[in-house]
Amino acid sequence: MSVALVVLASAANAEVLLSEDEIEQTLSFGPWPPSLQPDPSNRVSNDASAIALGAALFNDPLLSVDGAFACASCHDPEQAFTTTEARALGRVLLDRNTPSLRNLAGLRWYGWGGKSDNLWAASLHPIIADEEMAHSKESLKAAISDSPYINDFEKTFGEIQKQDPELVLVNTAKALSAFLETIITEATQFDGFRDALERGDFVEAANYPEAAQRGLQLFLGRGNCVFCHNGPRFSNNEFHDAGVPYFLNEAEVDEGRFGGLNILLSSEFTLDGDWSDDPDKQGAWAVRGVRRSHSDFGMFRTPSLRGVAETAPYMHNGNFIDLEAVIRHYSEIDIERLHADGEDILAKLSLSEQEIADLISFLVTLSSKP
Ligand code: HEC
Ligand code: HEC
Repeated sequence: MSVALVVLASAANAEVLLSEDEIEQTLSFGPWPPSLQPDPSNRVSNDASAIALGAALFNDPLLSVDGAFACASCHDPEQAFTTTEARALGRVLLDRNTPSLRNLAGLRWYGWGGKSDNLWAASLHPIIADEEMAHSKESLKAAISDSPYINDFEKTFGEIQKQDPELVLVNTAKALSAFLETIITEATQFDGFRDALERGDFVEAANYPEAAQRGLQLFLGRGNCVFCHNGPRFSNNEFHDAGVPYFLNEAEVDEGRFGGLNILLSSEFTLDGDWSDDPDKQGAWAVRGVRRSHSDFGMFRTPSLRGVAETAPYMHNGNFIDLEAVIRHYSEIDIERLHADGEDILAKLSLSEQEIADLISFLVTLSSKP
């Protein structure tokens, strides 16, 4: 392992603090934006008219049975496609925080508990969930048939009256998914630093604040955040227990990954199901291979940290009001209550006030609008 320090002065006497190993690891967080392929399970992925239809439907309360809310009511485009509520307010207060819908194309799992293995299924669930938009397949078909979207819908998917209500539901979700795939965050100050390192331009790289560089060093090193928050999205997109309490009340828990698997394994809307448009069923091995185990209780999907400064509050239940509270949680984590998987990876970090501030400085540079 190389520990050579690359220290180069710029005009302002700022320097690049990272070792060669740290630089190597930093390059793995890019390039950004990633190059993406159309979703083979969605035949209207990347189709301009489907994207426009999906964007319009996303903002329209027509997608709830009584016009009570649109997707955008919870996933507000003005608020990074989430809201500032700790837990989403549907017809009742839901158990979970609303995730931001940015950078979702091409993931293996969706939802905090991974109840979907593709983006159109994740877009379909809220339309028919009783606690959210509460449509039936029939009421959705009637609503779209009578709406101003009928022409665009038929241009994209063919004559609606020839479609079974279930197909109308799936088509609606595929238009929404085609739209969601286009929501990609911009390159950030961090990406500028990373790209400068890749070019070997240490003068440019030295413009990246030293506090953020120290935070990055902690993220890669003693904090071991990179174990789960890795790759260009800063997420392995897998499930872990990060020590967030998952009791809903004295008697019930949020089952996390365990509950997500129950829904996934009984869903018709998976990559292995008839509604996928991909004859090769790419990616379906994942759902075929999953098995439930007791340790799935209380595990949640690692969130992406791109744009994280814009999406407080944090965690699956909105437990922490700001980034400082999240870092203090990792700093003081009680490993006694973690599952086996977390115990091996997470440790009580006992960070100094300076280290907490440095980690926050780093996380803020993952947003284009801090
Ligand atoms: C009542 C608030 C609410 C409404 C309305 C709503 N959502 Fe969500 N959305 C949530 C919550 C909460 C989650 C997390 C659910 C989970 O973990 O299972 C979520 C999760 C998602 C995800 C998965 C994101 C990820 O990171 O995996 C997608 C995609 C999504 N919603 C799309 C939509 C679309 C499309 C609509 C409209 C048809 C919609 N949502 C309507 C609250 C809402
Ligand atoms: C064992 C894997 C793992 C490690 C290591 C880890 N995290 Fe996380 N992180 C997660 C998971 C899982 C969640 C969501 C937990 C939940 O909602 O219950 C999360 C949530 C977060 C969030 C909130 C994001 C949001 O949108 O709600 C932030 C910020 C964060 N982690 C930063 C860090 C930092 C900084 C470190 C290092 C000190 C770190 N994580 C270490 C898995 C991990």
